[in-house]
Amino acid sequence: MTAAGTAARQFPADFVWGSATASYQIEGAATEGGRGPSIWDTFSHTPGKTLNGDTGDQADDHYHRWAEDVQHIKDLGLDAYRFSISWSRVQPGGTGEFNPEGIAFYSALVDGLLEAGVRPVVTLYHWDLPQELEDEGGWANRATAEAFAVYARRMAEELGDRIDVWTTLNEPWCSAYLGYGSGVHAPGRTEPAAALAAVHHLNLAHGLAALAIREVLGDAAKVSITLNLHVIRPDDPASAADLDAVRKIDALANRAFLGPALDGAYPDDLLADTAHVTDWSFVLPGDGEITRQRLDVLGVNYYSTVRVRHFEGDGEAAQNDGHGASAASPWIGVTDVEFLQQPGPYTAMGWNIDPAGMTELLLTVRDAYPEQPMMITENGAAFYDEVSDDGRVHDPLRVSYLHDHVDAVGAAIDAGADVRGYFAWSLLDNFEWGYGYDRRFGIVRVDYDTFERTWKDSAFWYRTLATTGTLPA
Ligand code: NOJ
Repeated sequence: MTAAGTAARQFPADFVWGSATASYQIEGAATEGGRGPSIWDTFSHTPGKTLNGDTGDQADDHYHRWAEDVQHIKDLGLDAYRFSISWSRVQPGGTGEFNPEGIAFYSALVDGLLEAGVRPVVTLYHWDLPQELEDEGGWANRATAEAFAVYARRMAEELGDRIDVWTTLNEPWCSAYLGYGSGVHAPGRTEPAAALAAVHHLNLAHGLAALAIREVLGDAAKVSITLNLHVIRPDDPASAADLDAVRKIDALANRAFLGPALDGAYPDDLLADTAHVTDWSFVLPGDGEITRQRLDVLGVNYYSTVRVRHFEGDGEAAQNDGHGASAASPWIGVTDVEFLQQPGPYTAMGWNIDPAGMTELLLTVRDAYPEQPMMITENGAAFYDEVSDDGRVHDPLRVSYLHDHVDAVGAAIDAGADVRGYFAWSLLDNFEWGYGYDRRFGIVRVDYDTFERTWKDSAFWYRTLATTGTLPA
């Protein structure tokens, strides 16, 4: 993983350099401007659900400081900025009335980005479902997918001419399996059958939203979905049982989303592996036609890898998979797979650092879908960085992490993968879900008392990369 000795790398002139955030993680102003409650407000305010009881009530106060943040993005020389719209800010109940004040906030942000010469890449859903929709069943309920399409249509009408890429969903794996399976994310349900229903209704929501966006904006509208595809390594590559463990996890983690989006169908082995949990009768005739929509670019989030082996014995699969402690498994229906600790080094999340996994992932997708353009919509690392006596934040581990992963993207491009861009996670330190403010992913530090922004060394480093397209050796 060390970069020592590698040659400098020049990326194509049209390669997009960006950084990413998400609404609940940065905005704050949770009860201002007509915003309605989302499932993350409810969850984070429930004792015991987040580290130190942290909530997104204030977060980075981006709602009030967005103009300053746009200036940072401009000063960083970024081509694009990936942010998400809080559904409950623009449509507080998830159905019915829209909130003009919420729409005006995003409209001004988009205008600010365009004035700064930065392309807006929008995510319509980064986990903050309006609470009222959860009260009706949430993603386990088909009506949520239909409501999402109404919301997507309205956003296309309001912002359509100004948005570069429309990403429907961010990491539906997390929404479904962590939200409804292991319960470590909002809404905190531990209902295996509901988790698989959520998988389908998220896939359906993606397809319905893509159709709505193209109905408003025409066929030229660029549509995307961001998936956290898993790189799954067998403990013993010579063991048929371990390889079967990889297959099962690959079905749930990767093909449950790639299948409907790109092939219009769920893989047969996924349906068979989970038949004891659900009969999948929530998939209605014709749904495959809806879920499969042209993806102008597939968003890929990559951080780490997992290693699995066949598990002899009864009970739940081991939970050493970096997704938070829970008695319930996110791996619905699978009880004979064990997750093993990967060799280090590790980030502050406890995730192993494995840049080669990024190259491997991009080439695996390329092999399965040779014509599919891709973009890294998130990659980055949390470390326990601090402000030094010189007032700067020296984060050499993050610089090294970013360097080696960008190098890994370059290696995938060299090997024939069609990768169009890279977005560092994250622009700012922010609310890291169940881990609250304890884990810092930003290239720009946020002081949570004053909300002051300070560029870390990684931000200076990233500016050079973004403005030259040259990755130093
Ligand atoms: C993926 C998620 O999209 C983002 O919200 C989160 O902060 C990062 N991974 C880091 O865990």
